[in-house]
Amino acid sequence: MPVKTIQWKEGSVYIIDQTLLPEQYKIIKINSISEMAEAIRTMRIRGAPAIGIAAAFGVYLGARSDPKSSGEDFLKSVHKAVHLLKNTRPTAVNLFWALDRMKQKALSAAGLESDERIAGLLQEARDILEEDRRMCRLIGKNGLSLITGNEVTFLTHCNAGALATADYGTALGIIYAAREAGRRVRVFSDETRPLLQGSRLTAWELTQAGIEVTVICDNAAAFLMKQGKIDYIIVGADRIAKNGDVANKIGTYNLAVLAEKHKIPFIVAAPTTTFDFKIDSGAQIPIEERGRNEVIRRFGILTAPENAAVYNPAFDVTDHNLVSAIVTEKGVLSPPFREAIKKLENKS
Ligand code: MRU
Repeated sequence: MPVKTIQWKEGSVYIIDQTLLPEQYKIIKINSISEMAEAIRTMRIRGAPAIGIAAAFGVYLGARSDPKSSGEDFLKSVHKAVHLLKNTRPTAVNLFWALDRMKQKALSAAGLESDERIAGLLQEARDILEEDRRMCRLIGKNGLSLITGNEVTFLTHCNAGALATADYGTALGIIYAAREAGRRVRVFSDETRPLLQGSRLTAWELTQAGIEVTVICDNAAAFLMKQGKIDYIIVGADRIAKNGDVANKIGTYNLAVLAEKHKIPFIVAAPTTTFDFKIDSGAQIPIEERGRNEVIRRFGILTAPENAAVYNPAFDVTDHNLVSAIVTEKGVLSPPFREAIKKLENKS
């Protein structure tokens, strides 16, 4: 894949600044943990798996800034780093999963020489990156088993592609896999208000990959379904509860309700790192609320009265009974999801 969302190169971490796309394709160097926390908070890097990977490198950058510390100080600085990064974005569980993993690594490395401790954290972050790359490929391969027909039209929401992961993507991974399998693939991409990840990022990424993509306003989706233009709806996830409820970008739930009405398969694609095996249902998923300017003053133009009240939840929760299948790197989960997710947990 030509798109490298986050890279470790010549001793430094680089990310694509996604706030600038598609107008500008710019790779920026992240020099410190505070720069990484800022990049996640402001969504220069976004998408559940990518946030987790970024946070892992953030912990390493935090520890690297204090190389001569004792074992005890090293653990203190890792805890401080984890605390800072945990408070960047609340919904995607991949962030917390990656931070827990970095914390465990730090604990097991605390007794080593300072260089080895820091090298251990770097290796862990690089492993998380590589593992995500492999998981996305497997999701693509597994998801392909659900897709029939030589000419297939997908509808997707937000961006669950290479830009949201180490490489290839989850929802878009299945689309890439279908194309690689020789299918004629077309994609309708919801623009995804308010931050337009669908039009700015998904349409850009699919165009880079040479896949036919048509951007639609979010509110056009129902009409397309009614016209019979959509074969599959395919989305990513930020957190999946034990019963199969799925948190994903705001507007995903709308699509799932519409999919049921129009009898269109509603497929969720996500790695195991997106499952929260600690929570029973979607009601326990913390939903991020973002600022008012994203809604009323986006891209510099006032689009509602200055003093209008604004409610801007960044995610919603789709009930498990609206989901046709959840594609993971370990296989495809079918309803009833509670049992399927229990089995997945035991395999993890
Ligand atoms: O607010 P964002 O852009 O981070 O939201 C991203 C999504 O909702 C994605 O669909 C999800 O993280 C899955 S990415 C493989």
